[in-house]
Amino acid sequence: MVIGELNVDLILNQILGFPQIGEEIIADNMALALGSSSAICASNLSSLGLKVGFIGKLGNDLFGKFTIQELQQKGVDTALIIIEPNEKTGATIALNYKEQRSMITYQGAMLNLGIEDIKTENLKLAKHLHFSSYFLQPKFHDKLDGLFKMAKSAGLTTSLDIQWDPMDKWEIHLEKILPFLDIFMPNETELLKITGQTDLKQAIDLIKDKCNLLVVKRGNKGSILSYGGKIIEKGAFINAQVVDSIGAGDSFNAGFISKYLSGGKPEECQEFGNLTGAISTTDSGGTAAFMDLGRIKRIAEEKFNYFNH
Ligand SMILES: Nc1ncnc2c1ncn2[C@@H]1O[C@H](COP(=O)(O)OP(=O)(O)O)[C@@H](O)[C@H]1O
Ligand SMILES: [Mg+2]
Repeated sequence: MVIGELNVDLILNQILGFPQIGEEIIADNMALALGSSSAICASNLSSLGLKVGFIGKLGNDLFGKFTIQELQQKGVDTALIIIEPNEKTGATIALNYKEQRSMITYQGAMLNLGIEDIKTENLKLAKHLHFSSYFLQPKFHDKLDGLFKMAKSAGLTTSLDIQWDPMDKWEIHLEKILPFLDIFMPNETELLKITGQTDLKQAIDLIKDKCNLLVVKRGNKGSILSYGGKIIEKGAFINAQVVDSIGAGDSFNAGFISKYLSGGKPEECQEFGNLTGAISTTDSGGTAAFMDLGRIKRIAEEKFNYFNH
């Protein structure tokens, strides 16, 4: 079960420069795609063969219908998605520059999702709960430990990707949340921000003993895993022709979680996460490279020499 924010992505590619106030520039390519960290992770988990449900909020509008349609096309169960009649569906405009991007997000209906929308009987439908984008969902501030506690009591394993804080405040009560969390999966910058550190090793040292499994995503540098007193650094799968890195972290999460749920060792989960993160960079947006399992395996073998499915 994935709980989190929902929005569409309008991705502008091959942009000639950066727009200045009062001026107009041209993008040579554009795509409307399923957006949001949570939905990209859910969609790719489903493409990897898992049965996935989603709890989130949409507006009663075109972007909301598009989001449902995209999730359903990828096999995600949308029955628990809540339509808010008086809200608009969120949207992100992404200006994409190869491995870098600038984004503007209108949050809309996602702002209204809260713990009161989550019922224990719905959590019990699942084996695992993944929550993403903490800072985009203010109603979960001070309530996330409650949600994970609910999930643990219902017998689920749990994972969290906090994602970026657009307010740059980085306030999260990790010490309350970590006891109910099986996998904590921030990226490098996010971990530095929430721990107030500038050195990654120091940041990991600060929280590693409070985490069951900590995995830190590092873009084209791969990832670092920490558990049971061990720290394992694994380089990325090399992709010489990166289309974009949108959704690489969410695709990493999908790979890591799917291996975890099939009983993989943490190191195997990390390697598979690195693989699915790299696969995401071979096509535009976060889900295009994950059309179906056959295609995923082909990319893994042909582009990344990975046969260990
Ligand atoms: N350019 C790349 N080449 C190969 N693998 C990549 C690349 N960018 C990301 N990845 C893989 O995807 C994972 C997640 O990407 P990252 O950009 O760190 O996450 P986020 O999107 O959360 O910032 C990385 O840990 C890495 O394994
Ligand atoms: Mg991320």
